[in-house]
Amino acid sequence: MARWEKHGTTSNATLKLLYYWANIFKALGNLIYPLKSLLEVIEYQVWLKKTFGEITIFKNKNDLLDLIIGQCKKSGPTIYYEFGVAFGETAAYIVNNAGSNFEYHGFDTFEGLPKAWRRLPKGAITNHGKVPNLPGDNIHFHKGLIQDTIGEVNFDSTTKKCVLFDFDLYEPTLLTFKHLEKNLRPVDIVYFDEAFDSDERVIIENYFIEKYKYDVLGASVFGLAFLMK
Ligand SMILES: C[S@@+](CC[C@H](N)C(=O)[O-])C[C@H]1O[C@@H](n2cnc3c(N)ncnc32)[C@H](O)[C@@H]1O
Repeated sequence: MARWEKHGTTSNATLKLLYYWANIFKALGNLIYPLKSLLEVIEYQVWLKKTFGEITIFKNKNDLLDLIIGQCKKSGPTIYYEFGVAFGETAAYIVNNAGSNFEYHGFDTFEGLPKAWRRLPKGAITNHGKVPNLPGDNIHFHKGLIQDTIGEVNFDSTTKKCVLFDFDLYEPTLLTFKHLEKNLRPVDIVYFDEAFDSDERVIIENYFIEKYKYDVLGASVFGLAFLMK
């Protein structure tokens, strides 16, 4: 017996029609999401041009990371702070390319997103509680919700900072930005991995570019890096 035939009060024809439209909307949703994402990325590129003029835009994240790491190496020791580490891909890239004069601090629950983001459900991007296998006296992971772990580090160091925001979510990104903004100094680098996303853009526009002096170091299809002046 088909599912709609089990309902006594509503006619089969009405239920069939409802299921039909529900499936149409589902299919439309699946079609619209990639289109919406494409439009967001295009809008981001237009916003970059309108806001900053001609800047370097890289096709992939690692090219932008090379620029960031190269800039850090040029100007002495660096402390990298990565907010949102997941499986440690970016962490490994930094560790393998940053030379010898650096410290790294990565913050994550390693249990995935604490709430849904875009099409990703709560718990997506989980490393099942495991910190990445990146040994070294200069490498530190801070496991837990950022609300609980941010106090583990004193950001008031005069050593140059490279701050990478990659929590995806608005609330922890804003909380972290507000916590350490008073410690941002000239030559520090601030990188937003989801600059294309309208929520993260709110933080960039209202809390960063309104308030600070910076040069744009470069952008990618999704991310944006600033050098503090
Ligand atoms: C996009 S992933 C990070 C990817 C990583 N930066 C890379 O490039 O390899 C986002 C991570 O943020 C973490 N995260 C999100 N909100 C958090 C919060 N409030 N506290 C701690 N970690 C959080 C998630 O667990 C997830 O692993």
